[in-house]
Order: sequence, then structure tokens, then C-alpha cells
Amino acid sequence: VAECFNSGALAGLNVHITAGPTREPLDPVRYISNHSSGKMGYALAAAAADAGARVRLISGPVNLTVPTHVERISVTTAEEMLQASLEEINHCDIFIACAAVADYRPTSIAEHKIKKGNEEIMELHLVKNPDIVATIAAREDKPFTIGFAAETRDVISYARGKLDRKNLDMIIANDVSQAGIGFNSDENAVTLVTHTTQIDIPQTSKRQLATQLIEQISLLYKTEK
Ligand code: CTP
Ligand code: CA
Repeated sequence: VAECFNSGALAGLNVHITAGPTREPLDPVRYISNHSSGKMGYALAAAAADAGARVRLISGPVNLTVPTHVERISVTTAEEMLQASLEEINHCDIFIACAAVADYRPTSIAEHKIKKGNEEIMELHLVKNPDIVATIAAREDKPFTIGFAAETRDVISYARGKLDRKNLDMIIANDVSQAGIGFNSDENAVTLVTHTTQIDIPQTSKRQLATQLIEQISLLYKTEK
């Protein structure tokens, strides 16, 4: 790993990474979101910068400091994350979608705080958000595009489904059914899946894992691109 990094495995490449959750507002004081901490995306950004890449981190609301030599663009909603992801995408060599994007958003945002009614049941109307990584991967000038698949069962087969459906070059399959790894935790264990290979990376800290992932990504980028 050290040798790989000394040689600047990603030197001269532009790497764009989405990270963290998105927040989808309901009214001026409420939103729909998830428990993503952003740690995996920030760790990948730090590791990519260490490997010599120019890194742009498109981040939802998280409580993390920006890694050194990383440019952060802060966004809130999935739509904002998509807009930010499309900026300068023509200069992007490797796009890594690490964000936990809300799949749906409220159909409308109430102008004023929604008041409690007399009804016991309240229904929310939601509309599907754009798929950011699939939008990037559908472009003619598509960068080497990597997604994450957080799954609680049939992890590899769901991940392969997403790899194919979203036209990705690689997907990082993440079993989030086990306590202590994945979502909102400091450690993770993943399987890296491409159309031709499958590589297990056993449980370790997200920072260590990020270094190993960036090493593998730089190798596969060069062979599969
Ligand atoms: N993703 C995205 N935009 C979305 C939803 C997901 O870019 N609107 C990306 C994530 O960043 C991740 C990959 O797609 O890299 C897979 O996300 P995941 O939530 O696992 O898959 P979905 O396609 O949303 O399917 P589901 O949640 O039903 O499993
Ligand atoms: Ca999803």
C-alpha cells in the first residue's frame, strides 16, 4: 500500500465523491433523512487525496472536517447533490457515489410549519428522487463510475443487480445487517464487485478500508477503463 501511495496511484486524476445523507424538507422545520455519518465517503476522499488525486467531495449535511487537499461542496437535498455532481463532470475521471441519497422526497414543501391535525393517521406524499450515480453513468462522457450497495440480505446478488442496472464499472457491496459495521459506524467490511472480478476486503477501520479501496480502484481503473 505504501509503495502504491508513494508512486501517486491516482496522480493527475480528478476524483469526485458523493458522501453523507441527503435531507429532504417537509416544511421549514422538518425533513426526511437517514443515519449516514459520511465517514466512508470522507475516508475515501482523504485516501484519494493521499494517492495524488484532485478530489472534490460533494457532501450532504455531516459532522466531519474536510480532509486536507480536498475541495468540499456542501449540499442538502438529492436534487442539489445531482446538480453539484454534474458540475465539471466532463473533467471527472473517477466518480464514487458513497452518499446515502434519500430515495424519495416530499412531493411539496409546506411554506409554513405543518400543524398537528385531529386525525390519528397522517399520510405523506413522496416522489422519487433522481438517481445520481445512474445519471452520471448514463452520460456519453461517463467517468469510471463506482457505486455502493448497502444491503441487509442477498448482498452480492443485489449489488450485481445495481452494477448492471445503473451501468456502473464497479460496486462496493456492503452488508449492513451486522451491528458495528457499515452505516454510522467506524468500521466496515465490503466486497468489491466488477463485471469481471470480486474482491473481499475484511473488517477494518473505514480509514484503512478506504486506503485499500483506493488502491484497488486505481488498479482496476487502469485495467478496466
Ligand atoms: N444512489 C444515487 N442516487 C440515488 C440513490 C442511490 O446516486 N437517488 C447511489 C448511492 O450513492 C449508491 C448506489 O446508488 O452508490 C446504490 O444505492 P442504494 O440505496 O443501495 O440503491 P438504490 O438503487 O437506491 O436501491 P434500494 O435503496 O432500493 O436498495
Ligand atoms: Ca436507496
